[in-house]
Amino acid sequence: MIIGIVKEIKSSEYRVAATPGAVTELVRNGHEVIVEHDAGTGSGFTDEMYEAAGAIVADEAERVWTSVDMIYKVKEIFPEEFKYLREGLIIFTYIHSNAHLDQTKALMESKCISIAYEDISDDKGQWPLLSPMSELAGKGGFLAALHFSQTINGGTGKLLANVCGVETPVITIIGCGNAGLGACELAAAFGNRVNVLDINHDAMMDAKKRLPQNVTFMFSNRENLVECMKTSDVIINCVLWPKTRKDHLIYREDLKLMKKGAMIIDVACDEGGAIETCRSTTHTDPIYFVDGVMHYCVDNIPSAFAQTASATLSNATLPFALAIANKGVKQALKDDKHLRRGLTTFDGKLTLLETAKKLNLPYTSADEIVSTF
Ligand SMILES: NC(=O)c1ccc[n+]([C@@H]2O[C@H](COP(=O)([O-])OP(=O)(O)OC[C@H]3O[C@@H](n4cnc5c(N)ncnc54)[C@H](O)[C@@H]3O)[C@@H](O)[C@H]2O)c1
Repeated sequence: MIIGIVKEIKSSEYRVAATPGAVTELVRNGHEVIVEHDAGTGSGFTDEMYEAAGAIVADEAERVWTSVDMIYKVKEIFPEEFKYLREGLIIFTYIHSNAHLDQTKALMESKCISIAYEDISDDKGQWPLLSPMSELAGKGGFLAALHFSQTINGGTGKLLANVCGVETPVITIIGCGNAGLGACELAAAFGNRVNVLDINHDAMMDAKKRLPQNVTFMFSNRENLVECMKTSDVIINCVLWPKTRKDHLIYREDLKLMKKGAMIIDVACDEGGAIETCRSTTHTDPIYFVDGVMHYCVDNIPSAFAQTASATLSNATLPFALAIANKGVKQALKDDKHLRRGLTTFDGKLTLLETAKKLNLPYTSADEIVSTF
């Protein structure tokens, strides 16, 4: 198979889908890899490193898009890239089809085969291509709070750490999954008083074993959330919000409960999700204020740690990319129900139920499609 790795065009996106090490594996398995010039530079991987790994480096994105069987990338497909979509082309990337109607329609109309990292499942009911990025995003969310709490960056000037002789800051983390634990590890290590709220008792019990005494675990209900809103300097939301839910955990009117100068870091970053006032922001324009409360809602936090993020993402996606390339996409989808869970569009049909419901589009199950192979 010919596999193409393109340079990401999203603003401030520095990750690359495959490291030179991953390219070596693809080439060792008999595949040809074409990498767009400078695709890995933002992650510290030069064209020479890709060439040494056996890839061909192409000057233009167009050359990559038009000469490969599979596009292996990081972020969704942007309108400038729609012209390259074509029947049978395999797109393997984060897609977030429920949030981008124009992209979803373009994928369907082109009849390409698109598989979304974020919807690939595992035997534990987890999302293995999301979790490595979630941990990084949670850690990055705390670091963003640390940065934007500084006076010189528009914050109140409260250092989010335990400093002798002054009141210790309070940080509330909603959700103790991968992102929440990532945020919690750093917030606690800096000596803050950390509250973690979750609805899953077992998840909290597991986390409690690994985290220090300055972390308090609370069941996530309205009463505890209101108490945390009143007392926290920072709220970090790490709840994966179901795509079809219409309610919120924190409503706009709740912002008036919060302390002056408090901030919300919405790592989950679902518009219309757990935080009603969330709207996605970028690394170049990361914060905004609603009713005096600073919001940080960058939807690609891991990109700020591009080298680490590319390496962990590439480690997680490579087994699936290899399966697709080695077996062919149809056989790979047939053999692996978890990969099939990530199938988003095939031959013009939308195969993700959540997206079909949210965008009111016709749905065909991936199992039905695979049964015709
Ligand atoms: N901003 C970014 O750059 C970025 C990057 C990666 C992931 N994310 C997002 O981070 C979010 C979290 O990902 P994750 O892998 O940690 O998810 P996860 O499923 O591992 O964790 C979510 C946790 O939230 C808990 N939860 C569910 N409902 C709750 C409620 N009402 N109150 C409190 N807790 C509740 C769950 O029990 C679970 O423990 C996802 O939405 C993901 O898309 C964002």
